[in-house]
Amino acid sequence: MKIAFASAEVFPFAKTGGLGDVLGALPKALAALGCDIKVFLPKYSIVDHSKFDLSYNYSIGEITIRVAGNCHPVNVYHSTLPNSKVEVYFIDCPYYFNRPKIYTSDPDEDERFILFSKAVIESLQHLRWKPDVIHCNDWQTGLIPLYLKDNYRWDELFFRNTATVMTIHNIAYQGRFPKSTMYKAEINPELFYLDSPIEFWGDISFLKTGLMYSDVINTVSNTYAEEITMDDKGGGLSGVLRYRINDFYGILNGVDYAVWNPALDKMLPHLYSPEDLSGKLENKRFLHHQYNLSFANDKPLIGMVSRLVPLKGFDLFASCVKELMSLNANWVFLGTGDSRYEDLLRSLTYVYPGKVFAYTGFNDELSHLIEAASDIFLMPSQFEPCGLNQIYSLKYATLPIVHKTGGLADTVIDWDEASHQGKLTGNGFSFVHYNAEALLKTVRRAIDKYHQKDIWNQMMQNAMSCNFSWEESAKKYIDLYKKAIINRKNGN
Ligand code: ADP
Ligand code: GLC
Repeated sequence: MKIAFASAEVFPFAKTGGLGDVLGALPKALAALGCDIKVFLPKYSIVDHSKFDLSYNYSIGEITIRVAGNCHPVNVYHSTLPNSKVEVYFIDCPYYFNRPKIYTSDPDEDERFILFSKAVIESLQHLRWKPDVIHCNDWQTGLIPLYLKDNYRWDELFFRNTATVMTIHNIAYQGRFPKSTMYKAEINPELFYLDSPIEFWGDISFLKTGLMYSDVINTVSNTYAEEITMDDKGGGLSGVLRYRINDFYGILNGVDYAVWNPALDKMLPHLYSPEDLSGKLENKRFLHHQYNLSFANDKPLIGMVSRLVPLKGFDLFASCVKELMSLNANWVFLGTGDSRYEDLLRSLTYVYPGKVFAYTGFNDELSHLIEAASDIFLMPSQFEPCGLNQIYSLKYATLPIVHKTGGLADTVIDWDEASHQGKLTGNGFSFVHYNAEALLKTVRRAIDKYHQKDIWNQMMQNAMSCNFSWEESAKKYIDLYKKAIINRKNGN
């Protein structure tokens, strides 16, 4: 099966969060199952050229893409995903992608991804490589299914058998733009009317467009798939998902255990495994020493690695921060995002010297060290489509505390809840009601368990033995692609 992926992020080239991780791993898992894959992403100026070997793609050559009435020269470079033969294609258009960040709030954000979407399609044409499926990810690629069915219909001979899959990594981000974006994108104006497949409250939504025109849709966990079909959790698109319910699936993300494994992790000063956890304690000591925290064996270290936005639970965290800081634990934070939360975390380091360390920026190496050195990982997201950090935490024997929602509910088993049912399968802690009282109670409960060494050791073993490798999920994606191909054939 031939699959083309389109995404705004692909690890290790460009990443702000889990989308990048998924695109760095799922294509490799599919290739291992025999699929032929090409991955497309924009060639941002932040892609580190000194680290990656990018070659100019002469088969494609220079192409011209029109956006908002202007013609832009586009060139394409290629490379491979590390330790694999999976080909990655970088869409180069400096006018749109030479900016300090992957996502911007510039007024032409719509144009950047219109260009990208068209360039993916035209690159495929120039390569004469007919994919069975184009796998679109998030709103940045939401126009592709419409383009194939309308703007590029003239090339039906080429795309007749190409189906599309739209994956929702987070329904909170929808690519909503004013109606005028329709003209910039060269979308047929007849497609815009009240409640039409592209219209959203008088605007145009790239995500809704993708959901309406793709052959199948999925999101990244079963619980989140159920949640977002409900009116209060679907960000205004639950009706669309209910309309397409027969083509809508949940597939849990996996983990690339070649990157996230404490027994192999090149970013850690000390390696460890379920058989010998001594390296974990050494990492904890190392982090304390490195960042001037006062180490005590009986004091747990609580870590957070996150985009700093309310959806990740920072509103809740902020509302009870004093009580949290009064607990007998040290804290380490890594995050970037809303300035109010960056300010809050930095201020904690001044108010609680020796107890709190915060790094407000993006730092891949530190994210691995925090996973390894912490005893507890806090992830109180209000909503979480899948969440990868809690799954990494399990592998690193860093017991997660989560709000029981989305993918967090599908991966973390609360110790007390499980043991009340006579099962000793718990691998973390969760709370059901999204409020400060529940969060505090659960953090206290976790600290309490930390001191009960037998239970804690068992929980660490339970956590490390969980297997969320990509292989199973990749098989489910192959089934999903087959469904998309059937839908395409049937002309749905
Ligand atoms: P989301 O995609 O919603 O941000 P996930 O849990 O799925 O959440 O994935 C987050 C990914 O981004 C993880 O790999 C995490 O380590 C990484 N990450 C988040 N913030 C930072 C940061 N400031 N520095 C380094 N890595 C980060
Ligand atoms: C999004 C979600 C996160 C998910 C990631 C990868 O960023 O917020 O929950 O793990 O995508 O699918």
